[in-house]
Amino acid sequence: MDSVTQLLEAARAAIAECGDARELDALRVQYLGKKGEITALLKTLGGMDPDERRSFGQAVNEAKAEVAERVNARRAEIEAGQMAERLAAERVDVTLPGRGEERGGLHPVTRAMQRIIEIFAHLGFEVATGPEVEDDYYNFESLNFPAHHPARAMHDTFYFGDGRLLRTHTSPVQIREMQKQGAPIRIIAPGKVYRSDYDQTHSPMFHQVEGLLVGEQVTMSDLKGVLQTFVNAFFETSLEMRFRPSYFPFTEPSAEVDIAWHKDDGSDPGWLEILGCGMVHPNVLQACGVDSEQHIGYAFGMGVERLAMLRYGVTDLRQFFDNDLQFLRQFR
Ligand code: FA5
Ligand code: MG
Repeated sequence: MDSVTQLLEAARAAIAECGDARELDALRVQYLGKKGEITALLKTLGGMDPDERRSFGQAVNEAKAEVAERVNARRAEIEAGQMAERLAAERVDVTLPGRGEERGGLHPVTRAMQRIIEIFAHLGFEVATGPEVEDDYYNFESLNFPAHHPARAMHDTFYFGDGRLLRTHTSPVQIREMQKQGAPIRIIAPGKVYRSDYDQTHSPMFHQVEGLLVGEQVTMSDLKGVLQTFVNAFFETSLEMRFRPSYFPFTEPSAEVDIAWHKDDGSDPGWLEILGCGMVHPNVLQACGVDSEQHIGYAFGMGVERLAMLRYGVTDLRQFFDNDLQFLRQFR
């Protein structure tokens, strides 16, 4: 009987101290398993006389039931403790104030682009688009750049191995649209263009908006008037603007337009070129099947980042593409 009492006391103490589900299961096996200590005591019953067997058997069975019950109770406690720990660790305080969603904003180049499109829409120009991967015919030849003409070199073109290229300007859309629509025509063509250029006012990818108007009585002063109207509307303030004679194979005469610009680096105020333009060359009309005796038109191609620089007071065009959030947040 003493052995039962001792065993029971040891078991109570071990179960009470146990804080781990696996260890608890080992204890259960130690006492109650097939080869366990209590099972071993039951096996000694066979050699006892009937009276002894009854009282000893009862004591061992009670001990067995108690150990089983204590193991179960302890297991429930351990599981409850683990659950409480998890609940504490994963607690969410639903009364805390939210972190808030930050409001984004359109990129300044996108905003400038939308502004340009809107202004020309009011002037009756429809939007057309063309592919960024072009071939020599659309990017150069149809625009009256003869093979080996030095004007091709001004464009620092990115070529693919198969002779195709990344368009260097949006002017190929003039050709594609005139081939489709013929004349009269009045379109703008916004899009990305690519050149191997990189400095304060040049980036390898930039945006242009091409403009093309062809009709029967169109003059250079119509072109000047439209561009002056555009510049006034775009900047909402009168900036100094100049037309400077220039050269493009696809326009004759040709001009470039500059806006007075303060570089912010202590140097004297200078000029920033925003666009090229001119009267559409008869060879270009003919390449599109438009009768150049009957029709005449003007075209222009403006640099969107340059316009955005001037409107937003940005002095390095490359900042538009650095994705610096401090810079971009100013335009929200
Ligand atoms: C042209 O690309 C002509 N296709 C424009 C044109 C169209 C003339 C129709 C006549 C008729 P130009 O290479 O000058 O021209 O580029 C036009 C404008 O794009 C420039 O005035 C400038 O504002 C912008 N630009 C040119 N290169 C870059 C560059 N690397 N990064 C940012 N802007 C540029
Ligand atoms: Mg130019």
